Amino acid sequence: MASKPAIFVIILAALLPTFYNLGQKLVLMYNNAPSRFISINNLKSSEVKFSDTFRSCEDILLVESKGIAIFSCDAGRETWNTVMGIFIPGPVPNAEIYAYSYGNANTPDSESLTRFKIQGYNSSLDFHTIGLAYDEETSTLFVTNHRKEGKSIELFKLDFDTFTANHFRTIQHPLFRSPNSIALLNSHQFLVTNDHHFLMENSRFLSMAETLLGLPLSTVLHVDISSLLEDPASPTRVNIVARLPFANGIEIVNETTVAVASTTSTAVYFYDMTKPDSINTTLPTLTYKSKVSFPFWVDNIQFSGDGTLYAAGHPHPATLNEYALSRHECSSPEKLAAADESLQKYCRNVKGLSGVSKWTESGGVERVYFDDKFPTSTTAAFDSKRKIGIITGLYTKGLLVWRE
Ligand SMILES: *[C@@H]1O[C@H](CO)[C@@H](O)[C@H](O)[C@H]1NC(C)=O
Ligand SMILES: *[C@@H]1O[C@H](CO)[C@@H](O)[C@H](O)[C@H]1NC(C)=O
Repeated sequence: MASKPAIFVIILAALLPTFYNLGQKLVLMYNNAPSRFISINNLKSSEVKFSDTFRSCEDILLVESKGIAIFSCDAGRETWNTVMGIFIPGPVPNAEIYAYSYGNANTPDSESLTRFKIQGYNSSLDFHTIGLAYDEETSTLFVTNHRKEGKSIELFKLDFDTFTANHFRTIQHPLFRSPNSIALLNSHQFLVTNDHHFLMENSRFLSMAETLLGLPLSTVLHVDISSLLEDPASPTRVNIVARLPFANGIEIVNETTVAVASTTSTAVYFYDMTKPDSINTTLPTLTYKSKVSFPFWVDNIQFSGDGTLYAAGHPHPATLNEYALSRHECSSPEKLAAADESLQKYCRNVKGLSGVSKWTESGGVERVYFDDKFPTSTTAAFDSKRKIGIITGLYTKGLLVWRE
């Protein structure tokens, strides 16, 4: 039997990596505090577009064959944010889906932006978008939806001639705790992250504990909708294929590798993946391989065509919280005008920070955009052929578009 000191040493040794990670995060929190935060803008030519048209966008994806970016924005996130636990009573506006034709630099902004007309979506249900994925072969847009009546994934057929998004399926499943980001394996199978196990709407305490302690309780799910596509009444096959802390953005790197952002680990995890066989009798398996650390809490990730990973996220979580919680008052001109002097001053001073880096195996992590001018970066996408990149902000007006 092991002696007491030996057990103590074993427990200590087991906890050391946790202490080490916690220490690293505390250093990052200290260095990224707004008073010490160092702005770095390595974008040579950049411009904020459409700041009068929409705000609070999340995911963005590039359909490079068309030179079109598809993204969704949810002004309702100021009062209804299930991930961060903002539930302010009153009416909540629904999310919208947009197409931005970024391919031609000479097209005026007024002609390059179109809002999709959403058809066939039950108008008595609300719509709060998080992650997006697009299957070009079937023109299907997959959208994670944090609606009040139960979280879901919505399927729309996109028509780029009329810019309509025709809703045709809703996927729900008990394992969809907080579906966040989607990565397609093919037209009928995908991986989706659940950002939390414990949800803010059920228990703030447990959800905060999960976040602050970085507990590996969130999941990556494999979803097979083959039968649902044939018959809306048939069940969807859903299985857990990985567990990690705060799974957020997810991307298929290639045939054998999947990347998942672990927000509270300030890192992107890489997994070896065995693909399911063609007749779908087996599940894919994900085996953790390695991770890459970033100097911020990683939100979404994207790979450009040349294999560069773009990661966007939040340099200082407490600051993001403060910024997010203040938006329903600070970004409303009417409420701000009616507010007392102390709130007006608070709104002038509260900052939202952005952090965007890129990574390649040979070049490592390089800083791209660390600033508060375009705050709360959530996704960065880059078209490596056209040399155009776009950043979205969780609580920000418009998009940041850069050209290289
Ligand atoms: C729309 O949603 C409401 C509320 O859940 C439901 O009662 C109604 O049956 C739905 N309508 C259709 C056409 O599915
Ligand atoms: C897939 O990507 C990983 C990570 O970048 C790389 O190590 C691996 O060699 C790639 N595999 C193939 C088949 O391209």
